[in-house]
Amino acid sequence: MRYLVTGGAGFIGGHLTEALLGDGHEVVVIDNYSTGSVKNLSQVAGNPKLRIIEADILEFAELLDSEIARCDAVFHLAAAVGVELVVKDPVRTITTNVHGTENVLKPAAKYHKRIIVASTSEVYGKSTLPEFTESDDLLIGSPYHSRWSYACSKLLDEFYVMAFHRSADLPGTVVRFFNTVGPRQTGMYGMVIPRFVERALKGDALQVYGDGTQSRCFCHVTDVVRALRLLIDRPESYGQIYNIGSRRSITIAELAKLVIERTGSRSKIEYLSYDKAYAKGFEDMMRRMPNTEAIRQLTDWQPELTLEKVIDDVKNSLG
Ligand SMILES: NC(=O)c1ccc[n+]([C@@H]2O[C@H](COP(=O)([O-])OP(=O)(O)OC[C@H]3O[C@@H](n4cnc5c(N)ncnc54)[C@H](O)[C@@H]3O)[C@@H](O)[C@H]2O)c1
Repeated sequence: MRYLVTGGAGFIGGHLTEALLGDGHEVVVIDNYSTGSVKNLSQVAGNPKLRIIEADILEFAELLDSEIARCDAVFHLAAAVGVELVVKDPVRTITTNVHGTENVLKPAAKYHKRIIVASTSEVYGKSTLPEFTESDDLLIGSPYHSRWSYACSKLLDEFYVMAFHRSADLPGTVVRFFNTVGPRQTGMYGMVIPRFVERALKGDALQVYGDGTQSRCFCHVTDVVRALRLLIDRPESYGQIYNIGSRRSITIAELAKLVIERTGSRSKIEYLSYDKAYAKGFEDMMRRMPNTEAIRQLTDWQPELTLEKVIDDVKNSLG
């Protein structure tokens, strides 16, 4: 198979590309290195079945058209990612995630190519349900708060996939990733585990935003890549949405303690208000837990790697 991976030099894209090449497939990566890096592909750099194209999905619509025409399937992962980046540059978030995705979906529909589009648990917004299911109504915050531009732009991507599926029979699937973590993820854009591990290894204080009682579920990137690879071969997933994430919930304060324990660090924990960490009026969710029955029923997928393994792997990749 010949796969196109947009955002293939990113954190998840790099791991996916490695796995696809490992199974003997050809992979074409399109990435503008905005948050990704060629370093994420260093382990497969010499592989003759890998072609890396440095290009922006916003500006190179013709290139996307010809590359999509020649591939068997597309994983569309390129996006403006990370809460910090989204708050700092909301215009880039919207244009990349909306028009960039449009540039990918149009040729995918034209050539009837299998495509999986990455969305996010952020689309569940301020829902207070104990766990989130793909058919839930969504409760997104006001446009006065930039952070919601990420959720809204990704949600529009989802509607695009559904619309192309209905109107052009696009074999498209949406995946809603919950927090995905693992080696090579950078803490630069606000991802909490690499940020904590980096600081713990240096002996700096771990900064917990808010009161630390907000909880999240963290899934190892290896499990996430396995889910993507199971879904890509399943026609039953066309026109469907799947949550992908772990169901082990941990508060951010507990996570900080666990990182300190696993890294053997002497770091302290300090608490920082959301206003100071992001921007005035920043809104966060207290909990975010996926219901993953849909993907489990279709593919038998469940996460296999523990949060401790995630932290150890991040530590080893940074240390
Ligand atoms: N990591 C997570 O926890 C998580 C959670 C929810 C959703 N997601 C989604 O998964 C996907 C991959 O995220 P990631 O964590 O690997 O982040 P990442 O930032 O490492 O990967 C995104 C990649 O897209 C590239 N990119 C950005 N804009 C581009 C453009 N205009 N043209 C070409 N390339 C561009 C970046 O350089 C980067 O390599 C994204 O769509 C993201 O929204 C990730």
